[in-house]
Amino acid sequence: MAVISNCTEPIIKDAALALKEGHLVAFPTETVYGLGADATNEKAVARIYEVKGRPTDHPLIVHISSIELLDKWASEIPEYAIKLARQFWPGPMTLVLPRTSIAKNFITGGQDTVAIRVPFHTLANKVLKEFESLGGCGIAAPSANRFGKVSPTTSQAVEDELVDFLSDGDQILDGGQSQIGIESTIIDCTGEIPAVLRPGSITLEMIESLLGEKVCLQNQININVKVPGSFNTHYAPNAHVVLNGVLRPGDGFIALEEIPTPKGTIRLASPKNDYDYAQVLYSALRLADKIGIKTVNVIPPMEQGIGFAINNRLIKASKEKYTKS
Ligand code: TXA
Ligand code: MG
Repeated sequence: MAVISNCTEPIIKDAALALKEGHLVAFPTETVYGLGADATNEKAVARIYEVKGRPTDHPLIVHISSIELLDKWASEIPEYAIKLARQFWPGPMTLVLPRTSIAKNFITGGQDTVAIRVPFHTLANKVLKEFESLGGCGIAAPSANRFGKVSPTTSQAVEDELVDFLSDGDQILDGGQSQIGIESTIIDCTGEIPAVLRPGSITLEMIESLLGEKVCLQNQININVKVPGSFNTHYAPNAHVVLNGVLRPGDGFIALEEIPTPKGTIRLASPKNDYDYAQVLYSALRLADKIGIKTVNVIPPMEQGIGFAINNRLIKASKEKYTKS
């Protein structure tokens, strides 16, 4: 397994070829790094589950290079989904739609829907285009972390996390730090109105202002799907995460820059604003594990805009592990 920086055209061609041959290629997106496989190759997709240690009924997002390819994977696309796609793709948004026959059970976890995303990141887009030029239809890519752990936002984090599980022929492409830092907003587009299954940097406010109507949040309606975070192990480092807790000497501390570091604590991040907060959060949690901090005390941002998604991840990271929510 190789980590490849300076991803030139020949390297991108080689990565696309590796995917076509059934290998795994981890690549950067603007949200987090993904662990990619040919979304029509059952064996390759099975390796994603193996490498991640993820239950096989947990569906994957299929990445495509452009909205033009959406019809290959999805049918019965409602008008509001087209509007969302035209506005926010390429970008940090995933749409859940009724599947076509190309989206097999090994991608959808047996559901009749498929999750699709067109990422914005230049390297991701180039790999997708090259893969499609070789006859590929889409790249399945979950976040490139072990199941339940913190998503990686750098190639180094992918390597640290997966080095023992990847094989010869697999690749990790380096494309710098993910700009956004938290996973895409997932929107279920199978109902009369859109339902946000996972909040992200495409915020509720942005969606509602585009569509001119209220959207549902997953816990406000009854959808029987497996979304990330249905287990509390999601987004959790080994360290215990406490929100607005009592501070003890030796605790890690994460808060906006304007909040001073409490005496005796170890500052892990000082984001300047909420966007910065999202970008550095996962690397700060990883840093805590790297230096052996037992408890990380976090002052979350306000629950508005992207702050809503940050709070969503922080709450999951802070819950007792191994219990179902
Ligand atoms: O930002 C992201 O979305 C990143 C980058 C790599 O694109 N990917 C990512 O994938 O976060 P993953 O697998 O870690 O989380 C995607 C989640 C899955 O856990 C699954 O629960 C949900 O998307 N999902 C996939 N297909 C679905 C479907 N048909 N219906 C409902 N949820 C679905
Ligand atoms: Mg994930």
